[in-house]
Amino acid sequence: MSESSESLPWWKRGVIYQIYTRSFADSNGDGIGDLGGILAHLDYLNDGTPASLGVDAIWLSPIFASPAFDFGYDVSDYCAIDPIFGRLADLDELIAQAHQRGIRVILDLALNHTSHLHPWFLESRASRSSSKRDWYLWQDPRPQGGPPNRWQSVFGGRAWQWDPATRQYYYHMFLPQQPDLNWRNPQVREEIDRIMRFWLERGVDGFRLDVVNAYFKDLELRDNPFRWGLRAYDRQAHVYDADRPELLPAYTAFRRLVDRYGDRMVVGEPLMGNPQVLQQYCRPDRLHLAFDFDLISCRWNPRAFQRTILACEQAFGPEGWPCYALGNHDVSRLVSRYPGPHAPERAKVAAALLLTLHGTPSLYQGEEIGMRDSPVPRRRILDPAGKRYWPLYRGRDPVRTPLPWNDGVGAGFSNGRPWLPINPDFRSVNVARESEDPGSVLSFYRRLIWLRRGSRALNSGSFQTLLRNPDSGLAYLRQSQEEIMLVALNFRGHPAQIVLDEDPSTHEWEWRLGTHPGSHGPLVGRRLNLQPYEVCIFQATR
Ligand code: NOJ
Ligand code: CA
Repeated sequence: MSESSESLPWWKRGVIYQIYTRSFADSNGDGIGDLGGILAHLDYLNDGTPASLGVDAIWLSPIFASPAFDFGYDVSDYCAIDPIFGRLADLDELIAQAHQRGIRVILDLALNHTSHLHPWFLESRASRSSSKRDWYLWQDPRPQGGPPNRWQSVFGGRAWQWDPATRQYYYHMFLPQQPDLNWRNPQVREEIDRIMRFWLERGVDGFRLDVVNAYFKDLELRDNPFRWGLRAYDRQAHVYDADRPELLPAYTAFRRLVDRYGDRMVVGEPLMGNPQVLQQYCRPDRLHLAFDFDLISCRWNPRAFQRTILACEQAFGPEGWPCYALGNHDVSRLVSRYPGPHAPERAKVAAALLLTLHGTPSLYQGEEIGMRDSPVPRRRILDPAGKRYWPLYRGRDPVRTPLPWNDGVGAGFSNGRPWLPINPDFRSVNVARESEDPGSVLSFYRRLIWLRRGSRALNSGSFQTLLRNPDSGLAYLRQSQEEIMLVALNFRGHPAQIVLDEDPSTHEWEWRLGTHPGSHGPLVGRRLNLQPYEVCIFQATR
């Protein structure tokens, strides 16, 4: 049965908000978002009142020293802040000020690989006899020549890079500028522990662990079996270069280390993964959370969403704790995934879904105002994936453009030239404008998050669908010992009648929140008439 929300740790109770630091707010006019910019906008995130978003934790995309071949996911010093973002003292200040507002701070650690300019790799590649040679994955060519196996890199091409000076290949799951660490090397593990302790002692509340399920690769370097897919990487089933059994003891070691610092947490980012696998990674003696990205690939169809949610519910069970996301800095924005004239209405339906499911919701910066992917001309593309695959795939820059704060110069993001173009619709889609409009996507997010904060059923209750065969929408119950909520969502642009599987009349239901205030009296009987894209949340009063 569900826990009472008071006994829930913050990472179960709260909403995580992902800050893409480069694009949140720029405090010094160089066009790049920074720690000062986040500090200046903490009240937007949570000032303790429903006028703010009300999130409980912020996850900052990497802020460590980096040559930025993959925009921070290639670290050259894990214990230094990159000067473009500020100084260590700025982070200390940010942590202190965030904590005063009850906001936890989570750092993004990309530990599967480092930058090729990290001193460890420079030393490792210096010679075959380097004391750090074994810190990375070096291999001889096959006897007949060529790379050791057929593993592919996520960003395209072979995952093995030839090093002419030492006449061996090194493995890189992503760019050649991101060599993978050898997680079987005990000195590497000691260093990783040291890095984690360094930040935990500075007061950070946890870590988002980048590609958490790829740390170990098959010792025998066996080739992956074939499967259908578009890109060469997708045409392999990743059984030998991800999800290896050695991960589990590594997660237990993390958990022990982090739990020594009390109320902290680690959330894993799986490169791919299904709920059965994720649930094995999230146990009381393993990771606290792991992102479930399956909702992101659902078609705009309630059946697809329900199938995905039930699969996750089944895998995790009532005691388990999924962590749902509808977006992040790697995937097309929600409004662009489900385009059309009703995009803002769909954004609200999606918001209601994310914030009323069982588990911890993770919200990507800009989704709360219904931002769409920005057009980025070819000459301004920076993402290595976009450069490689353009025009087939335009990369991730369109989802990483600056957050528009207002309709002024530089959209209130920067006084300088922004590192990526501002979305041309910033005059209508911006924080200031949506803050004033009670019918905006932002106002709706705020109301939902604050409802969730005060609702035991929504932040800790069990999940039960009320529709075996959803057609136009979804309807489900969230139930804790103290409270029951009924959520109904119309996914369609036409009025819909939803017929619940069960007669909810054993309770009396009062409308609590929705997109069409005033259009509903109390819920009676099994039939519920919904307006196009209507969200309705009822609470049982008896
Ligand atoms: C996942 C991150 O989210 C993505 O942005 C990055 O490119 C890869 N991991 C490599 O670190
Ligand atoms: Ca800046």
